[in-house]
Amino acid sequence: MNDFAELDDVFHVEGEAAPRFFVRTYGCQMNVHDSEKVANLLLHAGWRGADDADAADLLLINTCSIREKAEHRLYSDLGALRAWKAERPGRILGVGGCVAQQEGDTLLRRFGHLDFAFGTHNLRLVPALAEAARAGERAARVEETRSLERFDLPARHPAFAGRGRRSAYVTVMEGCDLFCSFCIVPHTRGREISRPAEGILREVETLAGAGVREVILLGQTVNAYGRHDLRKGRADVVPFAELLARIAAVPGIERIRYTSPHPSFFDDALVRAHGELAPLCPHVHLPAQSGSDAVLARMRRRYAADDLRRLADSLRTARADVALTTDLIVGFPGESEADFAATLALVRDVGFVDSYSFKYSPRPGTAAAELPDRVPPEQAQQRLERLQALQRELTLAAHRARVGTHTEVLVEGPSRKGDRQLQGRDPYHRVVHLPAGGEAPEAPPGGPAPGEIVPIDIVEATPHSLLGRPLLEQATYHPLRKVKEAGHPADEAGWIRGADAQGAHPRR
Ligand code: 5AD
Ligand code: SF4
Repeated sequence: MNDFAELDDVFHVEGEAAPRFFVRTYGCQMNVHDSEKVANLLLHAGWRGADDADAADLLLINTCSIREKAEHRLYSDLGALRAWKAERPGRILGVGGCVAQQEGDTLLRRFGHLDFAFGTHNLRLVPALAEAARAGERAARVEETRSLERFDLPARHPAFAGRGRRSAYVTVMEGCDLFCSFCIVPHTRGREISRPAEGILREVETLAGAGVREVILLGQTVNAYGRHDLRKGRADVVPFAELLARIAAVPGIERIRYTSPHPSFFDDALVRAHGELAPLCPHVHLPAQSGSDAVLARMRRRYAADDLRRLADSLRTARADVALTTDLIVGFPGESEADFAATLALVRDVGFVDSYSFKYSPRPGTAAAELPDRVPPEQAQQRLERLQALQRELTLAAHRARVGTHTEVLVEGPSRKGDRQLQGRDPYHRVVHLPAGGEAPEAPPGGPAPGEIVPIDIVEATPHSLLGRPLLEQATYHPLRKVKEAGHPADEAGWIRGADAQGAHPRR
């Protein structure tokens, strides 16, 4: 789990008379993907997507409880939504995700205008819950299950507008059995469960057939995939490295990512896969949490800082240019200045290209919430700032080292900066900005289209992103050719066609 951006996800589709839904999503990629799954289920049940909450008849909030701040967002949202609900009779409000899983009925009791709550194992119930709510019923459904049924979801509805035409999330496992002492996840997502390999491959094939080129495999400890089942002799799972190899062999799949792995589950085969599988992106998100062995032990992380240094070395031996990113917590109970210095040392030694760093937030019911020696908030804040300053330095240096080199960018869409640039990701998962070319960033005449993989030159570096310039004359090497050869539908607004239009981009 990384990328804890707080997102408003719009599932926009065309449609007329059908009632409309909108999903507001907080938290990790797993939550974003759960919102996609719910949106898809609702589309299959006859609902249509709304552009925003104002246009919606059904509003769902998919919640996160990883830190206190995320949880508070729900409560302030719910307060504000009393007016939304009162504005139009018949409006329905539902809450899902980690807070719903923990609080269930309590939410319904506390918020009279809330119609239903659904837990992390109950996504498939949402259309029925929404239907019941229209008939005036209120319910909380948060039962945990160990059934594999939760992976049986319908294929993408024609109106589905999830992560994009070219990049898709695919769930491979869910839950966590590790119980790191700071983490609420095992309490909200339940026990580790792996999806049968066959279902994963079928989904990837279907996605590739629809033009998807990048799959992002999701799981709370994604590289623990199948470990319990293999030990028990379950025949429908394979080792994680083998799963990657099978996915890499699916025609049309050009990029594979996975998130988030746990450092303890990198076996030799997985490390080697990074050198052997061409579509496997040279980026590993390796959540370290701390560089102090004493803190790691209290966190119950099951590794020492030197294990991470060795793992980083092995990954670089397998694939020299692999980019490593991480998650770090500062101010964990009992963290001394020396412990914190060990974290800074680890970050420097491994040379993380980027990191997500957080102040420790005690979560009710977790082991660390009971630990003595809390770090004062001002001290935690100061450590966070020192850590982030070091990271900015490392990120900028890594970015600068790439100026003048080539890479390929999977274009995601208009830049978030709103400056009429496009933004996308390179294989190392770095954000790259590109000139949009035309008037409208969504369909720039002569420029790359969202969903395209564009060869570029890196011309500038900032601590947050790279600036790229498309290499128009390399169009013949463009992977789109491969996709066409493999019999997949070509792009309506493909980059190749854009290249023919000429002029909009500076030529090299
Ligand atoms: N406090 C602060 N950060 C946390 N994380 C998980 N639990 C907590 C907590 N209680 C961080 C970890 C994890 C990331 C998703 O969030 O770094 O990897
Ligand atoms: Fe949380 Fe640890 Fe499980 Fe990650 S491995 S989800 S940090 S308990």
